[in-house]
Amino acid sequence: MKTAPTKTVTVDLAERSYDIRIGAGALSGLGEALRAITTSDRVAVVTDETVHALHGAAIAEALADFRTHMFVRPQGEAQKSMGGLDAVLDSLFRAGFDRGDTVLAFGGGVIGDLTGFAASVFKRGATFVQVPTTLLAQVDSSVGGKTAINNAYGKNLVGAFYQPRLVLIDTELLQTLPARQVKAGYAEIVKYGLIDRPEFFEALDAGLGAGILSLEPDALSSAIATSCAAKASVVSRDEREGGVRALLNLGHTFAHALELEAGYGGALLHGEAVSAGIDMAYQFSARIGVCSAADASRVRDHLQKLAMPTQLDMLPFLKDADTLLGHMRQDKKNAGGRITLILTRAIGAAYIEREADESALADYLKDICT
Ligand SMILES: NC(=O)c1ccc[n+]([C@@H]2O[C@H](COP(=O)([O-])OP(=O)(O)OC[C@H]3O[C@@H](n4cnc5c(N)ncnc54)[C@H](O)[C@@H]3O)[C@@H](O)[C@H]2O)c1
Repeated sequence: MKTAPTKTVTVDLAERSYDIRIGAGALSGLGEALRAITTSDRVAVVTDETVHALHGAAIAEALADFRTHMFVRPQGEAQKSMGGLDAVLDSLFRAGFDRGDTVLAFGGGVIGDLTGFAASVFKRGATFVQVPTTLLAQVDSSVGGKTAINNAYGKNLVGAFYQPRLVLIDTELLQTLPARQVKAGYAEIVKYGLIDRPEFFEALDAGLGAGILSLEPDALSSAIATSCAAKASVVSRDEREGGVRALLNLGHTFAHALELEAGYGGALLHGEAVSAGIDMAYQFSARIGVCSAADASRVRDHLQKLAMPTQLDMLPFLKDADTLLGHMRQDKKNAGGRITLILTRAIGAAYIEREADESALADYLKDICT
């Protein structure tokens, strides 16, 4: 089978380094890429019902030379649970998989997180491969090795750092993704520009962003490669989030508070909350005088130009400032009873503020709550 041209980004983690292969039609090179990392010819593909219906035949064809088992789960966040984990592990045991066989996640972030965690604990660790099918998963969740399920105490609280051996990104798979999900992924793309790549933000603002949202193949490949390189660079320096990796949470502390208010029933997607959270991080930075009002306005204008959510669209979830502050106090990044926030000095100049000014934050939240 002819292999489509791909861009390759390497996540540099010594003996756990791996390649991210990106391109339109990259799926046709999956078999060859697997042969390079494993001698086993058995592959467990874990996917969800939606992705299976749309793209199951394509991945089966790409793996025609392998003994492939397809494990199809219902779609949705509820799969990231003990029940979901048990079901995946049970399928692997029943089909007689060994540790040297490949466990492949074929879906969005839910399937990636669930399958990655299952792979990490299956016989103490099976070969894990990611073939992400949402924009969010292609630019964020499939790279970096965070895997997790949720429990009654919160999201992503049971998990492991477990790196894949390969990430293969076929941008053509995105052609079936609903527009709302595309926008949710875009929030994570613009985030990389706003953290420390101002020239990337300029390119997004000058038209690349619009190209991504209309799923232009060249715009997708180029922006996904830049995003994966940005994430790979941070992960290579700080695999387990002891320091600089926290920058990837730009907008996320605000976003998590909004998501808790919205519940996880689909009223607010994670990426939609992140888009608004990024706007809030810039607005708050301007308010406390560390960033110019002009930069905060530019970020808001960019998001609004692309019909991305900002704080102004979050009114249904901005009811009570004390409740939001309470949610922000629970954030996993916090330490020593202080709220950690990712703030910014300019476009592309984000920094970690380990002792956020709580009274300024409370005032800001009071002002934006209805
Ligand atoms: N591990 C990490 O570093 C990390 C980072 C960010 C987010 N996450 C996790 O990712 C999850 C969210 O991921 P998501 O936004 O991809 O959601 P998701 O996996 O639920 O996918 C969203 C929806 O799109 C559908 N879908 C997937 N691919 C499709 C395609 N090509 N065409 C049409 N429909 C398709 C899915 O069936 C689902 O209904 C959350 O659980 C979040 O916690 C993890």
